[in-house]
Amino acid sequence: MTTTAIVLAAGQGTRMKSSSPKVLHAVAGRPMVDWILHTAFAAGADDAVVVVGYGRDAVAAHLRDAFGDRVRIAVQEEQNGTGHAVACAMPSVEADAVMILYGDTPLLVAADLERVTQLRAETKRPMALLTCRVQDPTGYGRILRRDGSVVGIVEHRDASEAQRAIDEINPGVYVADTAFLRRALSELRPDNDQGELYLTDVIAMAAEGDGVADALADAATLVGVNDRAQLAEVEATMYQRIADGWRREGVTIRQGARIEAEVQVGRDARIEHGVVLRGKTQIGEGAVLDVGCVLDDVEVAARAYLKPYTVATASTVGEDAQVGPFSHLRPDSHIGPEAHVGNFVETKKTRLHRGAKANHLAYLGDGEIGEAANVGAGTIFCNYDGFSKHKTTIEAGAFIGSDSQLVAPITIGAGAYVATGTTVTQDVPADALAIARTRQDNKLGYAPRLKARLLAAKKAADQPK
Ligand code: UD1
Ligand code: CA
Repeated sequence: MTTTAIVLAAGQGTRMKSSSPKVLHAVAGRPMVDWILHTAFAAGADDAVVVVGYGRDAVAAHLRDAFGDRVRIAVQEEQNGTGHAVACAMPSVEADAVMILYGDTPLLVAADLERVTQLRAETKRPMALLTCRVQDPTGYGRILRRDGSVVGIVEHRDASEAQRAIDEINPGVYVADTAFLRRALSELRPDNDQGELYLTDVIAMAAEGDGVADALADAATLVGVNDRAQLAEVEATMYQRIADGWRREGVTIRQGARIEAEVQVGRDARIEHGVVLRGKTQIGEGAVLDVGCVLDDVEVAARAYLKPYTVATASTVGEDAQVGPFSHLRPDSHIGPEAHVGNFVETKKTRLHRGAKANHLAYLGDGEIGEAANVGAGTIFCNYDGFSKHKTTIEAGAFIGSDSQLVAPITIGAGAYVATGTTVTQDVPADALAIARTRQDNKLGYAPRLKARLLAAKKAADQPK
């Protein structure tokens, strides 16, 4: 048996008050439509059709990038209802069975969807659906039952007072036999308050035939996102779910850390309060991310220690390296194994080889820093002349004294020594000492005389006139 997932995502999502289509809004770093597609695939869908309308180009472009051939697009020119939306997708469906899902329910659990799929296959009914019970059913379609079996769904606005009292609702998760669905959709009529073709009417048709199978799910997993308050609520649940998933894999995660969907974390890593891990970040085994670190597309190797408030983007940190507190790794920074980058050090497009150190207050841009080299406090790589960027190379074991400026392009040879406060404008050969500063002059006994003179000047200035 083959199954196609149809995801309805043509609506604008007016209540989001957004210029981008609702289903592209991210929940824990992943667009809502991606969540539901991942869930459909995890529950056994072979492929998927997403019905797009509002902002269709943006949605289609995103889906092509994220899923390639596995997800096709169907366009619904005018939004004439959920039944019409599914009908728009049917020409590109060949599978025996269809899952129908709404693009704005990212918390749906794959196991529940799988349950509905199996239920329909086992009972051989034309349709199966999930239902749930909610405190406040206002706005939802209500589940109608006779002798325990589902016989239909009535939309809130079309419901009688008695029907509105029903607290079992339709969350919008269905599985249907393809042949039945094609026939039923062709028979839909817009005889309701909105004059739309309601997908929910096919439930009554199935009930009149071979019946509808149903399964109950937890309402908390079926929250639909209609506005930004619901987006925030759903996202909080999602972050909790992701964190709990990694905790089960042996990761320590304090409350208040946020790990996005695509991030990978190794066993025994420790992730402290306020850490944010975004994009395709990967954390190695036993690595520590201390309070407030923010990482986007960063690879951190085993046992590396990122001290509080390290901010890093599109970079790598090697095994047993130490970074922070308050370090800023800009794109293409590569901190080698056992290397140290300390507070108020900014790196960009720079590689520190094994054991190299830059512990305090430095700007290291467009550089290569050799094994075990030491870069002193206040060192600046002067990489930019106002027009072009130039490279600074420090070879293995070199020592750069504090407050030096290295005017790129420049190379400091292996084992060389740059004296504190030097402005380096010429390459330094291996093992040489480079020093460029005026000599110091000590005037013996001069300090008391200088102080007396300065004090007298101050008193004269303070005299009332
Ligand atoms: C729908 C259900 C209702 C259910 C509720 C759950 C119907 C008739 N009603 O109502 O029983 O309780 O969802 O949230 O199905 N869409 C399209 N094209 C359209 C109309 C809608 O793609 O022409 C998409 C929307 O983008 C959205 C989904 O279908 O993703 C649901 O549409 P919405 O208008 O929110 O349906 P509800 O009125 O909430
Ligand atoms: Ca809705």
